[in-house]
Amino acid sequence: MNIFCSCETCQAYLTSSWSKDFDNLCDWYTHLLQNSPTKTIHIHMLRNTITANPDNVEYMLKTRFENYPKGKNFSMILGDFLGRGIFNVDGELWSFQKKMASLELNKSSIRSFAFDIINYEIKHRLVPLLLSKQDNHVLDMQDVFKRFSFNSMCKFSFGLDPMCLEQSFPISHFSMSFDLASKLSAERAMTVSPLVWKLKRLFNLGSEKRLQEAVRMINILAKEVIRQRRKMGFCDHKDLLSRFMSSVNDEAYLRDIVISFLLAGRDTVASALTSFFWLLAKHPEVESAIRLEADQVIGHDKDLTCFEQLQQLHYLQAATYESMRLYPPVQFNSKFCLQDDVLPDGTSLKSGTRVTYHSYAMGRLEQIWGQDCLEFKPQRWLKDGMFYPHNPFKYPIFQGGLRLCLGEEMALLELKSVALSLLTKFHIQLAPPFYKTPRFSPGLTATFSYGLPVKLKVNFNQLDFKNLDTELLLKNISIMQENEKLRKRAEELNQENQALLNEIKQKLSKDGNNNDSNNSSCNQNASHSNNN
Ligand code: HEM
Repeated sequence: MNIFCSCETCQAYLTSSWSKDFDNLCDWYTHLLQNSPTKTIHIHMLRNTITANPDNVEYMLKTRFENYPKGKNFSMILGDFLGRGIFNVDGELWSFQKKMASLELNKSSIRSFAFDIINYEIKHRLVPLLLSKQDNHVLDMQDVFKRFSFNSMCKFSFGLDPMCLEQSFPISHFSMSFDLASKLSAERAMTVSPLVWKLKRLFNLGSEKRLQEAVRMINILAKEVIRQRRKMGFCDHKDLLSRFMSSVNDEAYLRDIVISFLLAGRDTVASALTSFFWLLAKHPEVESAIRLEADQVIGHDKDLTCFEQLQQLHYLQAATYESMRLYPPVQFNSKFCLQDDVLPDGTSLKSGTRVTYHSYAMGRLEQIWGQDCLEFKPQRWLKDGMFYPHNPFKYPIFQGGLRLCLGEEMALLELKSVALSLLTKFHIQLAPPFYKTPRFSPGLTATFSYGLPVKLKVNFNQLDFKNLDTELLLKNISIMQENEKLRKRAEELNQENQALLNEIKQKLSKDGNNNDSNNSSCNQNASHSNNN
């Protein structure tokens, strides 16, 4: 490692001078990768080789998978947050968790199970929550999506209902701790030497102190999830956590498993939904095309009834993949080179080098996607009106090869169901602050620094009153009626005030005129008298 490297790139990294020209670090890396002939660059002082070359990605993830593990360095960086969870381990620990999770996630019955959970969450939680927030309320949809995906993930993986879409749910502590731990762990990887964060951790200083506090908070939640699962009994349950609990006794290990799955299912889906709605707000033509397709497949004013209907929504599927091409929830992914090697583009790697494939930059390469690569064009995923997938090593959004994401189908089910439901029931408008491009917070998954502030208006024609939480809906309507009454009363008072004001003005000007005429007659009298 050359922590004193004086090359232009390392100096720009060290002094953060890149931030003069770019909003985000990932945009700067994209610029460097676009201009590299091999589509591979080196940040020498981090000993990090970053690539956007699909041949290199395939080589790392598939051809020489065993030479590119996550590695000890990565495990240490994320160790306090993720422990021995699936995202942070290799070898036996990884293959055990992968096997157990695959058993559950690849079951044929899983689709209808996931479909039922997600649709329940949408109809009985998400829509009523949004109804109560419409009309001039500014709402952070990123936060709402985090709550929604957290709820769905808990039900799906742990058989528990944390009810965090209920308005009274105190999610903020947990949510903030989770985001903070993710951010501070990612920042460890950005320090020039691991010694920096290790010393800070030893003396419990600054960011390391805050990380430990966040992890403590997360541990409380994970313990509670495990305690509740135990209380309910897990022997006859088939959810993911019950499966693990019947073969793992180690509480700390169970905690790590729970955290990794929460990270897998909560942050990624929320991130994908956030950027999808951000893009739709900027591309009303895509939104209209999604509505049109839904009208044709499901019927005007109708709700989804089964998983098969979702599969026929090819344009919607194309739009979600296209959105993740431009805004991948996991923007980059690092491995460590075990033995000296040469990548397909000729890049030599020494043992111990960090190798990162950069999905965010890959989605913006002309060589992969053509000249219109920066445009949001769902049709690039359609052939004769049918969705067709691209090569996973050109589009490693769900990774690829042996460590392929296990939740792609579940994620798409969530994205498509939420999109469909919200687009037909609400008009969603961005609220300030407005940005041309998003600003991201550092973290393991892409998070908009300022959330996704929006204003909602109900599209009353499209509401399916039968399936809504009627009590909440009625409450909402009565609040709206009350608001309307107050608005009318305020208008009346305003008019009355205006009338009064006019009257006073008239009176004053009349008095003024009278005074003037009195004065002038006085003056006249005076002048007369003077003349006299
Ligand atoms: C849009 C949503 C999602 C995206 C973009 C996504 C992306 C990814 C990526 C990039 C990885 C590789 C991570 C790494 O090795 O460091 C991964 C792994 C994984 N994902 Fe997802 N994911 C999503 C949703 C989900 C959901 C909903 C679940 C669970 C139901 C899930 C379960 C997993 C698991 C278990 C792994 C570990 C696989 C392994 O290491 O072998 N993911 N995902």
